[in-house]
This record gives sequence, structure tokens and C-alpha cells, in this order.
Amino acid sequence: MTGSPRAVLLVFALLACGGPAAVTWSSLAEGAATPAQQAAVARGEAAWQALGKTLLGELTAAVNERGAVAAIEVCRQRAPVLATEVARQHGVRLGRTSLRTRNAANTAPAWATGAIAANEPVSARFLASDGTLGLLQPIQLAPMCVQCHGNPDELAAGVGDALHRLYPEDRATGFAAGDLRGWFWVELQGN
Ligand code: HEC
Repeated sequence: MTGSPRAVLLVFALLACGGPAAVTWSSLAEGAATPAQQAAVARGEAAWQALGKTLLGELTAAVNERGAVAAIEVCRQRAPVLATEVARQHGVRLGRTSLRTRNAANTAPAWATGAIAANEPVSARFLASDGTLGLLQPIQLAPMCVQCHGNPDELAAGVGDALHRLYPEDRATGFAAGDLRGWFWVELQGN
């Protein structure tokens, strides 16, 4: 297959500017981080902790005050807004992901794909050739989460129908309390 002339031109244009350097990722062992990288890891951890705390607070309040069906909006609309706010405040990129996503928009960055496929409840750190750090922090299911992520007979009243309507491709039910549900991922400059 040959590229279109326009694609070929684009490639030449990129090469002429040095091109986008191919970034490669490897895992960053616990003791191998430089002091600057350790400080960046701490900043990344503060970011996912902030998102986790705020999200859980809003979600719990919504479930208690308005019920699980209404609370779906917290996960659907507030979660991405909060993620953007926390990302800006902490100078990172971050999100939530899972091997079995409810919303495919929560698919993790490519560097996390291998660890996510392994699906082990362990935190992991990655380092890119350009100095970017990637962090993965497991999220385990709390008892309240089964209202929207449990087996069909455990979902709160009306939740199954609402999820079916909003997420026809939903893969995020059938979890039990204590299960690995997914991860926070954080990406930030490590030096
Ligand atoms: C009120 C229903 C509801 C409850 C309760 C709930 N979730 Fe969710 N969860 C959702 C919805 C809806 C989404 C999809 C959000 C989106 O569209 O980005 C979601 C997405 C997620 C994701 C992102 C990955 C994906 O599947 O797309 C994670 C991780 C997650 N939930 C974990 C939890 C955990 C842990 C708890 C308990 C602390 C919990 N959820 C409680 C409804 C809920």
C-alpha cells in the first residue's frame, strides 16, 4: 500500500522538523527513582488522592440524598469535570480506567495497557524516554459500589435499566466488594 501524496508530504514535513520523537516506556522500579522523580510521584499521588476523595464524597452524598439512579450523573458528568479540575490544579493528566470499562472514553493511555491487561491490584510506575512518568493506582470495590457495578440482582432499583440505556456497551457490572474495579492513572513530567 502506498500513502497518498499528502501523507508523504506530511511525513517529510515532520522529518524536516526532527519529527515526533518515538517515546518508549519502561517500568520504574521502586528504588530506581531519582529524587526529582520521587517528588513527581508524590505530586501524582496527591492528584489521584484528591480526585478519589472528592468523587467518593460527591457520589456518596448523591446516592444517599437522591438515590442511585440520580447519582449516575455524578459518575457520568461530574467525574470528568472533577478530573479536569484536579489535573489543572496539580499540573498532571489523570483519569479513571478499567480492564472492563463502562465508558470506552475511560480507556487508559497506551503505556498502561500491559499492566491493565494483567489486572492485578498493585500500583505501578512507568517512565518514558522523554522523562514523563505514568502512575497506576488500583481502585477496589467498596460495598456501596455494587449498587451500580454488582451483579444484576444487586443493582439498586432502576439502575440496570438506566445503565442499559446510557451504556449499551457496559462491561462494568458483575463486581463484588473487594474486587479490583480499575485504576486511577496519572501522567506528569518527572524531571
Ligand atoms: C450511582 C451509580 C454508581 C456508583 C454507586 C458507582 N459507580 Fe462507578 N461508574 C458509574 C458510571 C455511570 C460510570 C461511567 C462513567 C463515565 O461515563 O465516564 C462509572 C465508572 C467507573 C469507573 C471508570 C471506568 C469505567 O468503567 O468506565 C470506575 C473505576 C468506577 N466507576 C469505580 C467505582 C467505584 C470504586 C465505586 C464505589 C466507590 C463506584 N464506581 C460506584 C456508576 C456508578
